[in-house]
Amino acid sequence: MVGSPRVLYALEGDVPRPDAGNATIRIEPWHYGPMTSDDNPALSPDHSDSNRATYDRIAQRYAETQEKSRTESDDLFFELESSFIAKLPAKAVVVDMGCGPGMDSARFAARGYRVVGLDLSAGMLAVAARSLPGRVVQGDMRALPIGSHRLDGIWSVASLLHVPERDTPKVLSEFRRTLRSSGLLALVTALGEGESFEEVPYAPNEERWFAYRHPETLLGQVVDAGFRIDAQSQVTGNRLWITVLASPI
Ligand SMILES: C[S@@+](CC[C@H](N)C(=O)[O-])C[C@H]1O[C@@H](n2cnc3c(N)ncnc32)[C@H](O)[C@@H]1O
Repeated sequence: MVGSPRVLYALEGDVPRPDAGNATIRIEPWHYGPMTSDDNPALSPDHSDSNRATYDRIAQRYAETQEKSRTESDDLFFELESSFIAKLPAKAVVVDMGCGPGMDSARFAARGYRVVGLDLSAGMLAVAARSLPGRVVQGDMRALPIGSHRLDGIWSVASLLHVPERDTPKVLSEFRRTLRSSGLLALVTALGEGESFEEVPYAPNEERWFAYRHPETLLGQVVDAGFRIDAQSQVTGNRLWITVLASPI
């Protein structure tokens, strides 16, 4: 991430915006830059660049694999999604943080929410843009290119697991900053120990770096960032997941 800053964004050159109206999300200039304290050699390195490049290469394969494995009846996070939807206002402005190929974002858009998919990987966003044309933006959850108090909902599934543990407070404070006081956060990440590279099961010779969370630590960080925990659960699938529904306090 060293070098001259690259300005964000949009895949087709347009600034992505949701529908017109006073709920427009202001997307602000964003630069790649060190998001972590890389000047401290005692801290583990940030592998976001490597993960981004991997997702650029495997985006289509990821989308196809997800398409096969996630149906409405076996969706692991169905309960979280139902609770999230139940609390959102009509036409809510929602950002899917780490949207990947945008399957969740597309479902929310079909419900009439004003959805933007945000992701670090341009390859993933290119896939997401097929169902969310003009509504994708490249960005890092640790430094969101979004004005403060703009969002009714943040949906973030299986993306915090690629952010180093030490950057969790940055992500949560960005989520808190961009949510309205009446907003809602739905967060899902993997539980476990440590940080490691793992092979991608459906893409030979590709690997991604994961950082696992401890439930009590994560819930404490959510509260410290200015949220009240409305609900939380643990769900077993291909990993052990924690789901958190939280509201700004
Ligand atoms: C496992 S995929 C999950 C995609 C989607 N949320 C889903 O449930 O299918 C993880 C996604 O998080 C994105 N990601 C990783 N680190 C990120 C960061 N710091 N900011 C934004 N997106 C990030 C990756 O590019 C990838 O698209």
